[in-house]
Amino acid sequence: MLISGRGSNMRALVERSRVPGAAYRIALVLSDQPAAAGLDVAAGLGVPARALPVDPAADRVSFDRRLSAAIDDCAPALIVLAGYMRILSAEFVDRYAGRILNIHPSLLPKYPGLHTHRKALAARDAAHGATVHFVTAELDRGAPVIQARVDVVPRDDEATLAARVQALEHAIFPLAVNWYCRGRLRYRDGRAWLDGTALTAPVLYDAGNPDP
Ligand code: GRF
Repeated sequence: MLISGRGSNMRALVERSRVPGAAYRIALVLSDQPAAAGLDVAAGLGVPARALPVDPAADRVSFDRRLSAAIDDCAPALIVLAGYMRILSAEFVDRYAGRILNIHPSLLPKYPGLHTHRKALAARDAAHGATVHFVTAELDRGAPVIQARVDVVPRDDEATLAARVQALEHAIFPLAVNWYCRGRLRYRDGRAWLDGTALTAPVLYDAGNPDP
């Protein structure tokens, strides 16, 4: 799992991996930010974690090669981006094609990139949310897997909206990782496939029926 920040999604993923019947375990957490609070969270949870600091003199491809070496040491089935804020090189993404999942705080294809909550508020959107998607070289444009929606209410500001979206991130990300590691979810021909069927739209998360 790759992180850069506070690691609340990482915590949710680790906790879910410890529920009986979970299909995955977290082999290693890597952070490009040595000061990321998520590294302490990982240590507190007893998950192997370390920083891979960025050398300002090195280019993106050489950093990503170091990253690949660290990842390949533990040969994971899946790479999970849980608040990883560095753009990945095309070489890296190609190397692990179809084996990288990201969580993004918007209803993609709306609002790729940063400041998604601010953008949803500025646009007076009635709904906002989060998307788990496969990672391709194009930022936040890979095939979507599952989305969770929240209503935007008149008193919302960025913080209140972000908090409601994050609570749902913590539900949908472990769900998608579990699907993948159970063999239910795959990436093929530019699409996400669930239970052998190509998704024409992301699964819409339903808290009343959370694991269809
Ligand atoms: C989340 O909002 C996620 O959608 C985005 O980065 C943030 C990470 O938060 N990709 P955390 O570090 O998991 O708390």
